[in-house]
Amino acid sequence: MRALCFHGTQDVRVDTVPDPDIVNPRDAIIKVTSTAICGSDLHLYDGVIPAVQSGDILGHEFMGEVVEVGPGSTLRKGQRVVVPFTIACGSCFFCGNQQFSACDNSNPVDKQEMSETLYGTPMSGLFGYSHLTGGYSGGQAEYVRVPFSDVGPLVIEDDGLDDDKVLFLSDILPTGWMAAENAEIESGDTVAVWGAGPVGLFAAQSAIIMGAARVIVIDHYPNRLALAKGLGAEIINFRETNVREALLEMSGGRGPDAVIDAVGMEAHGFSIDNMLDVAKQKIGIGADRASALKQAILAVRKGGRVSIPGVYGGMTDKFPLGALMEKGLSIKSGQTHTQKYMDKLLGMIADGKIDTTFLISHRLPLEQAADGYANFKNHQDDYTKVVLKPGMEA
Ligand SMILES: NC(=O)c1ccc[n+]([C@@H]2O[C@H](COP(=O)([O-])OP(=O)(O)OC[C@H]3O[C@@H](n4cnc5c(N)ncnc54)[C@H](O)[C@@H]3O)[C@@H](O)[C@H]2O)c1
Ligand SMILES: [Zn+2]
Ligand SMILES: [Zn+2]
Repeated sequence: MRALCFHGTQDVRVDTVPDPDIVNPRDAIIKVTSTAICGSDLHLYDGVIPAVQSGDILGHEFMGEVVEVGPGSTLRKGQRVVVPFTIACGSCFFCGNQQFSACDNSNPVDKQEMSETLYGTPMSGLFGYSHLTGGYSGGQAEYVRVPFSDVGPLVIEDDGLDDDKVLFLSDILPTGWMAAENAEIESGDTVAVWGAGPVGLFAAQSAIIMGAARVIVIDHYPNRLALAKGLGAEIINFRETNVREALLEMSGGRGPDAVIDAVGMEAHGFSIDNMLDVAKQKIGIGADRASALKQAILAVRKGGRVSIPGVYGGMTDKFPLGALMEKGLSIKSGQTHTQKYMDKLLGMIADGKIDTTFLISHRLPLEQAADGYANFKNHQDDYTKVVLKPGMEA
């Protein structure tokens, strides 16, 4: 089959690779009809996530048709499914608590040492996201093996819901929702969101649905900010405006009640601190670039809530721990517990309460995936979300 493989920093290619097989009884094989490139994929592309190997198949946002099932799968051939990016067994302590992205059984034992060293405990498995999280082949491919297929995949019965409407249930829609939930939004709140990428936009949309009175989205890309405005958010362009002053002014001098960092470890920024972090990241001495998060922590009101859907991999230098403690802030974060939210959000899509199609700027054949990565990385303002279609003519 054809699949998008990692070959080195900013070097990905569509190669011919062996088709996947059923390995465990609960596996299913999915023929991919749509798969997207995520901001998280850019961290792999830029070489700032460790343990990606040459030849690894990337991609964790995908859906398609079931073409093969193991004896323990509950899926049937021919079903249309959206697959959550988090691989979860459904029966461990964490899955029992609906903390699916913390599953104890989805990262193979021989891959656990690195996350145990870095994070103090082995992490769970994710599709196409390095050997830190299981080394699973991803979904930017014609076919993909889905472990624990009796737990994760969501069957889409309604043919009226085309791929564009439901694909983002695999990651970014639940991620935006959980980001807003983690911000513990109460009716009337002012919420600030850093990043007008897919995650920030869906977080803003979710915060509005949850009753926030004002949602303010911060970025520097005009088209992305215009999408935020279209959702009903207010916007700040951080190149033109002093973010902290603007937020104070917009929140009666107090600061937002809750802040959401939808930027993650490759924040853009012009402070000396951020430039030093860029250099440290380049030479591999492990500093995540957290300038958006630092700004959010300084901007939020005393006693405020900090939600971090943005991905961080290692250590962060000069973290404002003093502000966190002195202001009495609370923080919630995590890879999304995707399985927990998919059903509910599918219902909201079917009822017309949530639309995700506005986000898609480009639909490309899988063969053009390398261009899709380069453009999503280098022309972020125009490329808001790239969907790859293995079945589309090149
Ligand atoms: N927690 C999860 O499960 C989960 C799931 C999906 C994505 N993510 C993470 O969420 C983050 C966003 O993902 P995305 O797909 O929206 O990415 P993206 O790269 O498309 O968007 C990031 C946006 O942040 C903006 N930005 C950069 N620096 C900024 C700053 N200092 N202030 C304000 N805005 C700034 C960029 O201009 C860009 O528009 C990434 O870190 C991604 O890895 C997490
Ligand atoms: Zn993703
Ligand atoms: Zn589990």
